[in-house]
Amino acid sequence: MDLNVLVLPGDGIGAEVTGQAVRVLRHVCEKWGHRLKVSEGLLGGVAIHRTGSPFPEETARLAASTDATLMGAVGLPEFDNAPPEKRPEKGLLGIRKALGVYANLRPVRAYAALLDSSPLKNHLVEGTDMIIVRELTGGIYYGTPRGIFEEGGETRAVNTMTYTRSEIERVSRMAFHLARTRRKKVTSVDKSNVLENSQLWRRVVVEIAREFPDVALDHILVDNCAMQLILNPRRFDIVLTENMFGDILSDEGAVLAGSIGMLPSASIGDRRPSGAQVGLYEPVHGSAPDIAGQNKANPLGAIGSVAAMLSYSFGLREEAAAVEAAIERVLSSGNVTADLRPTGAPATTEQVGEAVVAAI
Ligand code: IPM
Ligand code: MG
Repeated sequence: MDLNVLVLPGDGIGAEVTGQAVRVLRHVCEKWGHRLKVSEGLLGGVAIHRTGSPFPEETARLAASTDATLMGAVGLPEFDNAPPEKRPEKGLLGIRKALGVYANLRPVRAYAALLDSSPLKNHLVEGTDMIIVRELTGGIYYGTPRGIFEEGGETRAVNTMTYTRSEIERVSRMAFHLARTRRKKVTSVDKSNVLENSQLWRRVVVEIAREFPDVALDHILVDNCAMQLILNPRRFDIVLTENMFGDILSDEGAVLAGSIGMLPSASIGDRRPSGAQVGLYEPVHGSAPDIAGQNKANPLGAIGSVAAMLSYSFGLREEAAAVEAAIERVLSSGNVTADLRPTGAPATTEQVGEAVVAAI
């Protein structure tokens, strides 16, 4: 098979973790006899430095003509006070929208070998296995009007949370299809006791659920969900939610997984006319500028994102399963980075990448 992959290392630890993820991808392609073509582009703070824009046109062009994109991380403290258009995060929102990847799949698993890495009690975390399906191209992240305005001697900031029926329908269908490959349970998260957006969300999810009578649906308010994720994480299979709630809850999920460095993600949209599944793959962690360039970052979230790419964009299930199994073996070996609190000396980013390759 021909695999055309665009890599956008981005900022901070992005280059280090995508470096190891690409190394794993190369190894898989060699082993299974696939032809891999990797191109590289600019996104985020590094793109602002080189081109003035966080999402340069060249990157948009490359992404549109590549089967799958692997992103590292965006964001640097030097841009904290920059105007919205000149922020690294704007680049990430731009590419998500441009690719139309409306469903962000964030699996949260408590690996047996990592139970002691979580600050939570083992008996609470053990057996956790869920996928957060986060709506990714709508809601308050993109709604207008937005901005900071001066009016009548007062300063006002405005953001708009907005959803259309069709935006809710398509991400819900994705969640229900995914549930069918798992434990057949969808939990929809909203704030319907307060927000009209959530009232429409709940109504549409209930309608879509009728197309999937074999899948169980329940609803939970987002504040209670934040609590239940910690108290009873095993109750969740598919967690379906809107953009900002999903952003917040998935960081909480990191505590269940032992470290945010562990979480991969796959952002997918509709298939292209060619049949190719558009996909943007990124670890959930950020750019961690405090440890950037030190060969300390955990590359397993990025490597897990490569497994997701193999599976969703290329339909290479066997290869994806091999990468996932290799991640588990490396975790059991204890040869892991400092964030996972190993008992011995922590491994470097490169050593973990090397160990995954060896385990495959
Ligand atoms: C994430 C990140 C991004 C988001 C930021 C970097 C814009 O937090 O992917 O979870 O909020 O979507
Ligand atoms: Mg986030």
